[in-house]
Amino acid sequence: MARTTDSRTSPDSKKTVTLTDNTTGRTWELPILEGTLGPRAIDVRRLYADTGFFTYDPGFTSTASCDSAITYIDGEKGILMHRGYAIEDLAEHSTYMEVCYLLLHGELPNRQQRDEFERSITYHTMLHEQMMNFYRGFRRDSHPMAIMVGVVGAMSAFYHDSTDISDPYQRMVASHRLIAKMPTIAAMAYKYSLGQPFVYPRNDLSYAENFLHMTFAVPCEEYKVRPAVARAMDRIFILHADHEQNASTSTVRIAGSSGANPFACVAAGIASLWGPAHGGANEAVLKMLQEIGTKERIPEFIKRAKDKDDPFRLMGFGHRVYKNYDPRAAVLRKSCHEVLDELGMRDEPLLDLAMELERIALEDEYFNEKKLFPNVDFYSGIILQALGFPTSMFTVLFALARTVGWIAQWKEMIEDPNHRISRPRQLYIGYPKRPYIPIDQRK
Ligand code: CMC
Repeated sequence: MARTTDSRTSPDSKKTVTLTDNTTGRTWELPILEGTLGPRAIDVRRLYADTGFFTYDPGFTSTASCDSAITYIDGEKGILMHRGYAIEDLAEHSTYMEVCYLLLHGELPNRQQRDEFERSITYHTMLHEQMMNFYRGFRRDSHPMAIMVGVVGAMSAFYHDSTDISDPYQRMVASHRLIAKMPTIAAMAYKYSLGQPFVYPRNDLSYAENFLHMTFAVPCEEYKVRPAVARAMDRIFILHADHEQNASTSTVRIAGSSGANPFACVAAGIASLWGPAHGGANEAVLKMLQEIGTKERIPEFIKRAKDKDDPFRLMGFGHRVYKNYDPRAAVLRKSCHEVLDELGMRDEPLLDLAMELERIALEDEYFNEKKLFPNVDFYSGIILQALGFPTSMFTVLFALARTVGWIAQWKEMIEDPNHRISRPRQLYIGYPKRPYIPIDQRK
């Protein structure tokens, strides 16, 4: 969708809300902005200049930090769309490469565009050989997310010819490099933790097959990627590709708003994703299921999740935006059964346990009242474990798949002629000015 300078402004300039300061009786008219879908927004850009007030919204629960034409979520109805296409349709009919193209360019590619895009991504899959030395600097037991933050940030030091953010061609090359090299970087982080040799990318394989090959192949024997496994991997990548202005995407946008290069910005996004309230939840779900262990212990954990004095939360449940079943969880729930069937793991006890936990939680008044439903992470961990990934790699896979979303959002911001450095303000609650105390007079 074409972006115009005044695309955000309501065509009817009479659409305003009135703000009244009840202490002085003064009033101001604030414009209402309308998107194509979703709640309208009150334009407070001139609020401080015109009124002297800030808005106060820690956690940004009521704040639209930007406008965007990439992803739409209706959390009440459980809808997720990329560029107008439902996530269920993309997961069913598209490939991750097509979704990457869609997010970056706004339309699904025709055959020629798809082939050219895939060629460009394939062409960039190798890492600069010098970058291997970075891995050797890490302890073997480092968390692979720690390695990801370091190595992706270090890309800024290697690919100088794609760090000029004012050049559209360099922005495109940086985008393709990040999408292409992320699987290589992630697989190498895993290999390093095992003490196995790095496996170089293979350009005759699809994106998902290549990643699985680099992760699980060893030089001494042939490794054949099972088509069903590659398809499941590709679907997981699609489901994690973008999710509008979540914590890590906002981090990438804020880092990029100062003009920082895209490799550094994506490294910042990876750091933000790492936390257990965000991308780290899939790892936490599996640990929780292992801790619960048996169906008999589920009520005990449900009780703990409801106890205000217990910090325990049911991981994989609840979402800031979805107040209905997360549509990605619905796709993965189905996928989970298919993959486990295909791998001959139909009786996997963890899946059984997860299904029972979901059933009990969905029937529980507390979870219903607070609209806490399973989110994408509830089922992804079970599939990833079945595919052979250790829990420490789960968030890495999320980062790999989300890279296209980060970079598409970053690109959209850089190409917006109205973009400015992000600089929130605060409600200061510290001391007012007070006299300096010399050290010998301090208590
Ligand atoms: N288990 C038990 N209670 C919960 C849970 C949970 N998983 N999630 C929220 N609540 C309760 C919470 O205690 C609070 O209760 P009260 O109103 O009585 O204080 C209420 O529900 C609202 O919670 P909140 O923390 O104010 O909601 P939020 O929008 O700030 O947090 C969340 C959203 C995802 C951080 C939270 O639901 C959570 O911690 N879930 C578990 C972690 C998880 O699965 N994260 C993955 C998110 S999806 C992947 C992604 O997009 O990154």
